[in-house]
Amino acid sequence: MSEVNHAPRGHRGEVLVVDDAAANRFLYRAVLEDDGHHVREASDGPAALALLALAQPPIELVLLDVSMPGMDGIEVLRRIRARGEGGPAVLILTAAARTPDAIERGLELGADAYLIRPVDNRELAARVRAALQIQRLRRELAALRRDQTAMLVHDLRHPLANLSMLAEVIESDDLRPEDRHNAAGTIRRMVDDLGRLVDSILTASRLEAGVFSVEPKPETLSTLAAPSVDVFRPLAARRRVALDVDPLPAVPVLADAARVRQVFDNLLSNALKFTPRGGRVHVHAETLPDAVAVHVDDAGTGVPEAERAVIFDRYRQGATGRTRGGSGLGLAIAAGIVGAHGGTIRCDDAPLGGARFTFTLRRA
Ligand SMILES: Nc1ncnc2c1ncn2[C@@H]1O[C@H](COP(=O)(O)OP(=O)(O)OP(=O)(O)O)[C@@H](O)[C@H]1O
Ligand SMILES: [Mg+2]
Repeated sequence: MSEVNHAPRGHRGEVLVVDDAAANRFLYRAVLEDDGHHVREASDGPAALALLALAQPPIELVLLDVSMPGMDGIEVLRRIRARGEGGPAVLILTAAARTPDAIERGLELGADAYLIRPVDNRELAARVRAALQIQRLRRELAALRRDQTAMLVHDLRHPLANLSMLAEVIESDDLRPEDRHNAAGTIRRMVDDLGRLVDSILTASRLEAGVFSVEPKPETLSTLAAPSVDVFRPLAARRRVALDVDPLPAVPVLADAARVRQVFDNLLSNALKFTPRGGRVHVHAETLPDAVAVHVDDAGTGVPEAERAVIFDRYRQGATGRTRGGSGLGLAIAAGIVGAHGGTIRCDDAPLGGARFTFTLRRA
């Protein structure tokens, strides 16, 4: 056994070798330790299951012999998977003679891969490394999903709690009519917000699932931008932010108007959200050979260089974003829509001191 650690740093895995033959365990251990892993051994199924339940740090990968006296490998695998998600990767080892059956059954039960004995040392090391890598990616994904769900639940629950409180207010007998009226208005606004959030979640998951389609037609930018600008004008006025829209190029672009409106909505909503009172938001565009580039500049906080790569991902917010509410879906949706049109979207420093968001649409 060599002293050299061949495995790249950070790829060291917690491995359990399960085989009734001591000679096999010795061989596999040698190969895997040589590749930098921490290896434990079990000589039968029950011992393996006990180790899996107790080992700290947890076992990430099990190399499992199929034919063992007593509890065979297939039964061990079944019990590992019966414990639910988040278990280790399992590689089953089977002899050439009983291959097809055992492999089929093993994969059915959730084995990640199989190896046929006798095993080539290099192949063993490579398969274990690959399975560990996949296992880690799977775990990261699961954690990400849990985080996102928790955040969404929070976003949905908070307004629901307020709605229920407002309902109680309305129900109370000694309420003045104007208070009742105000409470009803607040409820209506909150329900609208919730509706928009649910729409965003739906759009974002459609984009993610690739079942989102656009129907681009020749349109002019001023027609595309107008409905959003009209909606945000009163908000800008209330916040004392100048919303300046330059005359936009008249060349037709290929756009699904309803979808591109969502892009304008999300970019203007962000620009206004992050620009302090007295600031300015500036919408302008330039004509390129094949496309038109639209800029939404603001005089707000800007987006730090390091955050620019992640803010277009679902549920991702920058440091300032997290303090201003929202769910981190707006830019993911904008990017998905622009991408579906064959355009690009990016974030840069704006000449106004804040952020510049630029997206392109192809010319008709
Ligand atoms: N104009 C801007 N100025 C500064 N930071 C911005 C701007 N636009 C976006 N960001 C940053 O990018 C993050 C992601 O924006 P995005 O629109 O996806 O989500 P959000 O606005 O936080 O929530 P939502 O749009 O779902 O209500 C924001 O949280 C913020 O950190
Ligand atoms: Mg937003």
